[in-house]
Amino acid sequence: MGSMTGRFPRDGHADFVGRHEELARIGELLADSRLVTIAGPGGVGKTRIARSAASQAAGRYPDGPWIVELSGLRDPALLPNTVASVLGLPEQDPRSALQSVLEYLKDRRLLLILDTCEHLLDACAALSSAVLRAAPSVTVLTTTRQPLDMPDEQVFPVGPLPVPGHAVDLFELRAAAVIDGFAVTEQNAPDVIRLCQRLDGIPLAIELAAVRLRELPLPDLVRRLDRRFALLTGGQPGALPRHQTLRTAIEWSHELCSPAERRLWARLSVFAGTFSLAAAEEVCAEVSLERPDVVSALVGLVDKSVVIREDERYRMLDTLREFGAQRLAESGELASCRERHIARYLAMAQYFGGHFADDDQMDRYHELRETHPNLRAALEYALELDDEAPEADEAGSWQAMAAVASASVVTSVAAQERWRSGADLACSLHGYWQISGLLGEGGYWLTKTLDRFTDPGPERARALVNRGFLRSFMGDIGSALADCEAGTAMAVALGDDAVTARGYQHTMLTLTFLGRHDEAAQVAKEARARLRACGDLAGELMLMAQLGHLHQLSGKPDECVAVCDEGLAMLGPDNREQWISTYLHVVSGFALFQMPGREVECEAALRRALYGKQELGDVIGMAYALDVLGWLSVKTGSPARTAWLLGAAEPLWERGGSVRFSGTAIMEELHQQAERSAREALGVSDYAVSFAAGTWYVRERLNAGPGGGALRLEIP
Ligand SMILES: Nc1ncnc2c1ncn2[C@@H]1O[C@H](COP(=O)(O)OP(=O)(O)OP(=O)(O)O)[C@@H](O)[C@H]1O
Ligand SMILES: [Mg+2]
Repeated sequence: MGSMTGRFPRDGHADFVGRHEELARIGELLADSRLVTIAGPGGVGKTRIARSAASQAAGRYPDGPWIVELSGLRDPALLPNTVASVLGLPEQDPRSALQSVLEYLKDRRLLLILDTCEHLLDACAALSSAVLRAAPSVTVLTTTRQPLDMPDEQVFPVGPLPVPGHAVDLFELRAAAVIDGFAVTEQNAPDVIRLCQRLDGIPLAIELAAVRLRELPLPDLVRRLDRRFALLTGGQPGALPRHQTLRTAIEWSHELCSPAERRLWARLSVFAGTFSLAAAEEVCAEVSLERPDVVSALVGLVDKSVVIREDERYRMLDTLREFGAQRLAESGELASCRERHIARYLAMAQYFGGHFADDDQMDRYHELRETHPNLRAALEYALELDDEAPEADEAGSWQAMAAVASASVVTSVAAQERWRSGADLACSLHGYWQISGLLGEGGYWLTKTLDRFTDPGPERARALVNRGFLRSFMGDIGSALADCEAGTAMAVALGDDAVTARGYQHTMLTLTFLGRHDEAAQVAKEARARLRACGDLAGELMLMAQLGHLHQLSGKPDECVAVCDEGLAMLGPDNREQWISTYLHVVSGFALFQMPGREVECEAALRRALYGKQELGDVIGMAYALDVLGWLSVKTGSPARTAWLLGAAEPLWERGGSVRFSGTAIMEELHQQAERSAREALGVSDYAVSFAAGTWYVRERLNAGPGGGALRLEIP
């Protein structure tokens, strides 16, 4: 989700000017009220203030301030999923994302910041009110152009920076970044003040103007700006409403761009969140802006502060993106630009799906994860109902796009084609939904796909078997089986061998989860032969892990270890694939636990699994490995280690709703046994001390990083 989102909101720039009174007042409001809204026009500085307020107040929230950046989110239905993902809550259980969020927040003392709510007002109001009801020690802070309009909402209106005063400081700071040694002096102060007055103290407008110093001396800059505003206001500074002042500053900035930069500005508006240079080249090059020219135009936009560079990625502030979106709609290029956007992310997803078991799996996965808002945007563009582009003057608002999406059904050939790409995208991301733990969201897009393809056909068959698989991991086994069976039957009727093979594979898993072990074993045979015949190596390897799990549940640990070893051998000794190999290690680790004399191998398999799960950021998988390592320690005579490991697993299970092992009774019984033995061996109080140490260790690490990923545990 990028650096903009997560725990301990990191401010993009180290520089922050003024706002002392505002921050003091917001601090008071946060102490008194549980819902505080920072409201104000675009570019006035709401996001920066919210971030600073959060850093200042951090000490009051032991479970942290968390910031959820919503400008890249278009679909209100995915708001709870977005919050869950920021909090690091996996979607691996039957609860809805909203339930997971509420349960998790229930006992926390935490500040939840929803940044940029205006395009999702109803959804943000509903979520906030649910949070306030369910979680008595959580405070919600929002930034928005329009208040949520809720009963206990304390609205803090933010105005621009004062002129003279901090507005001038901001200008000086930004100007110094463009011209070495620039400083406001007695001599140039009148010009700077005049410029800041013209721009009404709006930070974004000041930033856009300051960068023009690169090509214009200050007096010329002021003169031109004066002329621009004189046309609109008859010469009175402050005579325009603020949003018009900002708009004028943006238009002015736009006019001063080269034609190539202007075109790029418009086309870049199809991106959500951040994007890479490669993405810009691929999506934005078209007639009148050829691929080799994209880089220089992009550099030009960065120089003009229209695009912000963050490490290797780029992003546009919302106001500027909206302006670009309007230009794009007017240019008649919206549809072709979106087509290229869809094509880019589809190609990435297809590669990932088609090379799932390759060595570069994790690199490709991280690329996708980093650009998640664009995957969502591409899915949304592709699966939109109507073929019509939004009206030019509305193109910038997500609401307008959502309204278009719910318009009447159009099934033009072009729309069908687009939907097919959407279906392919949702299904090619199969492995991505699993690794990221975004099972609920994956299911959401697959359901949307199924809504577009209501008649039997290849898209519907593939989406059904894929959704069945995700549902079975979310504990929704009844509907999982229905999906798998319907999709498989459809694929058989269509003669679609690849989907049929996967259909059998997924059905086998669901039958296993349902405890129908004999049938599962039968289906597994069929699945394996078909996957092999299709050359679907990733499918076959996944099936072997599933088969290992089935053997384990059927009391055949030897066969379990054998099939896992076979799978690992197929992957090869030096493979860097993580998802399937980790799964194989987990499953065989558990079987080895049940086999006398195999403790050393068991420890090795589980450690390997834990390492892989960390790489994947899979908190439930980590919990699984730690828990079973804990049981093993009873066998090897280290009860203190058992207590520590079970304690360490606890905060990880908590993220998944505190149901261990998806509620599998055998596993829960083994967990209880290990706990009892360790407690008896150590005594109640020593057990509690070691357990608490493990919990503390993991909780600290979870709290330090952004949700989910990047956890590195050193276990005793
Ligand atoms: N106090 C400040 N100090 C330094 N820079 C600031 C300050 N306030 C705003 N800015 C800069 O001005 C620009 C707009 O600020 P920000 O993104 O916080 O506005 P916003 O009100 O959240 O806008 P939007 O409505 O588009 O979300 C940013 O580039 C930001 O860095
Ligand atoms: Mg903002």
